[in-house]
Amino acid sequence: MTTLDNKIVKEAQLLQKELTRHNYRYHLLDDPEISDAEYDKMMLRLLEIEEAYPSLSTPDSPTKRVGAAPLESFETAKHSIPMLGLDNAFNEDELIDFHHRTLKFIEAQKNINEILYTVEPKFDGIAVELTYENGILIRATTRGDGVTGEVITENVRTIRSVPLRISTPSNRYKINNRDPLLEKEFPLPELLEVRGEVIINKKDFENLNKARLEKGESLFANPRNAAAGSLRQLDSKITASRPLSIFVYGIGDQSNIQFTSHSESLKVLKSYGFPINPLIRTRLTIDQAIQYYRELEQKRDSLPYEIDGMVVKVDDLSLQNILGVKSRSPRWAIAYKFQAIEATTVIKDIAIQVGRTGTLTPVALLEPVNVGGVTVSRATLHNEDEIDRKDIRIGDSVVVVRAGDVIPKVVKVIESKRTGMEKNFFMPTNCPVCKSPVKRVQDEAAIKCINASCDAQLKERIKHFVSKSAFDVDGLGKKLVEQLVDRGMVKSFADLFKLEKEQLASMERMGDKSAQNILNALEKSRTITLKRFIYALGVDHTGENAASLLASQFKTLDNLLSGTKEEMEIIDGIGPKTAGAVFDFLHNPDNILLIKNLIDGGVTVLQLDREPNLESNSIKGKIFVLTGTLESMTRTEAKELLEKAGAKVAGSVSSKTDYLVAGESAGSKLSKARELGVSVIDEEAFVKIVSANAILNKVFL
Ligand code: IVH
Repeated sequence: MTTLDNKIVKEAQLLQKELTRHNYRYHLLDDPEISDAEYDKMMLRLLEIEEAYPSLSTPDSPTKRVGAAPLESFETAKHSIPMLGLDNAFNEDELIDFHHRTLKFIEAQKNINEILYTVEPKFDGIAVELTYENGILIRATTRGDGVTGEVITENVRTIRSVPLRISTPSNRYKINNRDPLLEKEFPLPELLEVRGEVIINKKDFENLNKARLEKGESLFANPRNAAAGSLRQLDSKITASRPLSIFVYGIGDQSNIQFTSHSESLKVLKSYGFPINPLIRTRLTIDQAIQYYRELEQKRDSLPYEIDGMVVKVDDLSLQNILGVKSRSPRWAIAYKFQAIEATTVIKDIAIQVGRTGTLTPVALLEPVNVGGVTVSRATLHNEDEIDRKDIRIGDSVVVVRAGDVIPKVVKVIESKRTGMEKNFFMPTNCPVCKSPVKRVQDEAAIKCINASCDAQLKERIKHFVSKSAFDVDGLGKKLVEQLVDRGMVKSFADLFKLEKEQLASMERMGDKSAQNILNALEKSRTITLKRFIYALGVDHTGENAASLLASQFKTLDNLLSGTKEEMEIIDGIGPKTAGAVFDFLHNPDNILLIKNLIDGGVTVLQLDREPNLESNSIKGKIFVLTGTLESMTRTEAKELLEKAGAKVAGSVSSKTDYLVAGESAGSKLSKARELGVSVIDEEAFVKIVSANAILNKVFL
């Protein structure tokens, strides 16, 4: 047994505290202070220490987030208070019925004629219960059958938005005063059981499935199944690798906190450091709740996670007590569900779509069907392996789902509806567009057309090039791109910038005015950030995130072009696959010419070269933009300070801006700054920078 020296204990405690704080900033405030690489470095050091001195590995240590030794099986545990389900309302009348029922029940005992509700999104994930003793997470369980659940503590500890230790705001590090303020502070109870939903964001789900598709692994049908599968791993290291997060929405058993309302309990949970969903609205009348349902329904598709309705809860706890519970659900809450995003239909045929990188994707042509308000007539079948795995045949009745902006999917075949007339499908041996032979990529499930000048690929590459996150050429839609390629007017990216008004005006459904609009949009798009430029090239395995990481690392196009594979690979977040693909792309003679033609054709790639050096750099002559609310001073005061130090203050963010100072509730300026790669600093950094400059310039604050 190694003896512990004081220095090591101190180092471990500091690392634990700092990692916890950075985790909170990243996952709860969405405002990281350090890079992922720095976080990982600290985590590795802490792991090293805890491995050498296991007594330092406390249950709330952030190292618990990387997973523990695999289990043989899950233990079960009885919930101290059953985890009930919810009754459903499928339309407005059913919700109003619920309201009248509730009112009647209460009126029989109390003279009350109004009920206020807290409404919450109904998250489509997995319900869990987290038990905290003296502020430390000691157990996590699944809902199970509501009475008994499985113990999944190690797995839940890996979810970075789950606090391993909770505390009251006054005991926690102050972070720009962003922690919620409460009129009175609620001390931590000895026992606190918190309930919530573990989810996977839609985008993370797509990426997870994409990676599984490439590895030839079976796909998850939806984010909910992916979350369930990830939580039920006996090896918590696997769970740690999955992008799970949590929203909490209720309390089970607890000692000594006297809440008066559900909304108050949510506020207190937030003050303890739990993630509470920002779309929750408190103390609404039934009419306001109905109104809010419509708003949520509108927002549904654009939310980063899946929700399948709105939960309506009586806010006053004294009223909840009067109402009580039935056998499986409480009388004080109801789930007002959205229209299903699932439907059954028939596969009329299977077509092949050729993608940007030549991948042949089988697509089911469906008997058109309404799925959650949208008519769906096509759904992706991913690849041959998926068709085999699900045993999909032409003529089959199938279940189709649509989730947000995600492409509709066939989830399963309804075998009981088979007539025997269904036909098996086989992938073609030639590209359906250019007819050249196809190839199955080694170790991948994909079949590809390897003819780089295949028109189908060109069309997709151009569509990607002009898309919103790339060159963002307004008005240059898919149909128009297809016509331009079909008529031979666009053979490569650079041809877009050579288009003439007459050519555009001669296309279907185009006139002089729309042709001019497209020319204007092309002109506007010529100046582009490095991130967008990289993304627009459409390199394999290089999405917006990878493009952004590459841009921040290399800063200029020239640097990127002369970068080595190793330099790309060491960027945190860029794997060897992406590094290899980018390097190979940039060293292919055809692509070198393609980039040269773009630059010669007048495309300007903006440099990303502003690194804030907060403490020592003089801010004289630098351009600042202020946004959001500052806590320590008014904006006018901030402006005066900056001007005294010789800096300029502008009203809006542009590529000329040096720093954006983002206070609380910063809005569109912040997104603009992020997009243009402008350095964003928070109030704390801002105060530091002006104080340092005040000393430099002998200006007194
Ligand atoms: S409250 C007694 N709130 O819906 C109250 N549940 O059908 C029961 N769910 O098992 C839970 N979002 O998994 C509540 N905002 C929310 C919810 C929510 C999703 C799930 C939860 C529960 C199921 C009940």
